[in-house]
Amino acid sequence: MKLPSRRILAVISVVALVASACSSSATSAPSTGAASVAPSTAAGVTPIEVVSWWTTGGEASGFNAIIAKFNTDNPTLQVTNSAIAGGAGSNAQAALQNRVLNGNPPDSFQVHMGHELLDTYVTPGYMDNLDDLYAANGWTTQFPQGVLDIVSAKDSSGTVHYYSVPLDIHRANVLWYNKTVFTANSLTPPTTWDQFFTDADALKAKGITPLAVGDNGIWATGMILESILISTLGADGYIGLWNGKTSWTDSKVTDGLNIYKKVLGYVNSDHATLTWDQAADYLIPASAGAQPKAAMTLMGDWAAGEFDNKGFTDYGWMAAPGTDKIYDTLADSFGLPTKAVNKAGVKLFLTLLGSAAGQDIFNPYKGSIPANTTAGNPPASAKQYSTYQKWAMGEWKADAIVPSLEHGAAAAPSWKGAWETAVTSFVANPDVPTLQAALAQACKDASVCK
Ligand code: GAL
Repeated sequence: MKLPSRRILAVISVVALVASACSSSATSAPSTGAASVAPSTAAGVTPIEVVSWWTTGGEASGFNAIIAKFNTDNPTLQVTNSAIAGGAGSNAQAALQNRVLNGNPPDSFQVHMGHELLDTYVTPGYMDNLDDLYAANGWTTQFPQGVLDIVSAKDSSGTVHYYSVPLDIHRANVLWYNKTVFTANSLTPPTTWDQFFTDADALKAKGITPLAVGDNGIWATGMILESILISTLGADGYIGLWNGKTSWTDSKVTDGLNIYKKVLGYVNSDHATLTWDQAADYLIPASAGAQPKAAMTLMGDWAAGEFDNKGFTDYGWMAAPGTDKIYDTLADSFGLPTKAVNKAGVKLFLTLLGSAAGQDIFNPYKGSIPANTTAGNPPASAKQYSTYQKWAMGEWKADAIVPSLEHGAAAAPSWKGAWETAVTSFVANPDVPTLQAALAQACKDASVCK
């Protein structure tokens, strides 16, 4: 797949940022209450422990389906998904860092391509390279160059090595809405924030929560801010936030923060107690013909997997207001920790994850599109890609690609942590100058801004 020049620009920015972020080593991992389940296997069967944070809806169904395929095809091996609940890896990432740093990693684990993979695990030397798998499977021509660039790193002699296998491509900036609520109230799904506020006022007047948010993991509201900054800055301006070319004191950042403050006035009062999927479920009426609790949610396209898994079909979607033709991108990938116990078994599993056949098992459940460009055609007997996913495949080829902050692609994990601390304070006490100053300081602390 030939990348459009804007895409290459975006990717180069991300790569340049990776190069400039070598000061950010693995963050020390706080302990979490989440326990991973030790795999138990029958005699003569070798366990392969894989950790993900996919515990719900289409995410769990998709991963379970590809694991079932592997375990059936390889009866002497057994992959177990030791999943740790918490959207966007909000619990799993800390637990994984603990295990890797303590020399007790699972055999493989979910990790976002980009900074999360490279800064946390590759640069400090915790991962084996997968060059042999890439060569044997032809992946250097099957994955888009922009993806290859951020699952790889150069050694001191300048040779490129590949460190994880991308399983999917997700889009973070999608607005989902209940179609019947919009038609019944003669409202236009919003392509701009002005339209959003017009709709939101009308919905509020009818007693419907305009925007469902579930930010018991702060990433979910941080992701709304990410989308808003893309809308006020555009693709290049937003990318510039992460490579030092756009100032965090720019008036378009201020505009974005003011929009964010206003948006937070239209969300459900119980947002802090809900997970992302519980919030997405607010768009689903409790019974046929009933009014749902909320009309819209701004969430990554794993929400499509959630709706499809629940049999809810009355949903529409569009790019988040003001972000049409910009794809806020992230990808889940799996690699091989240097201290993995069963390396040969992991390599077999990774081979399935990267293959067109494997990606066409997993992604139709997940809401994502395949990362392998030769995938996209599940056999007739298998689950097919949804209308949303077919739309997303077209957008991915045509849109400007920007990296998601909240999902590990745009910036070092420590920078994401500083952003989330600032956003947490803002949600409790929404003061725009305070947030803007904190975000500007976070860029300096990451040694990207002067
Ligand atoms: C993202 C991840 C997605 C999905 C989502 C919600 O970080 O990449 O695959 O799991 O979190 O948990």
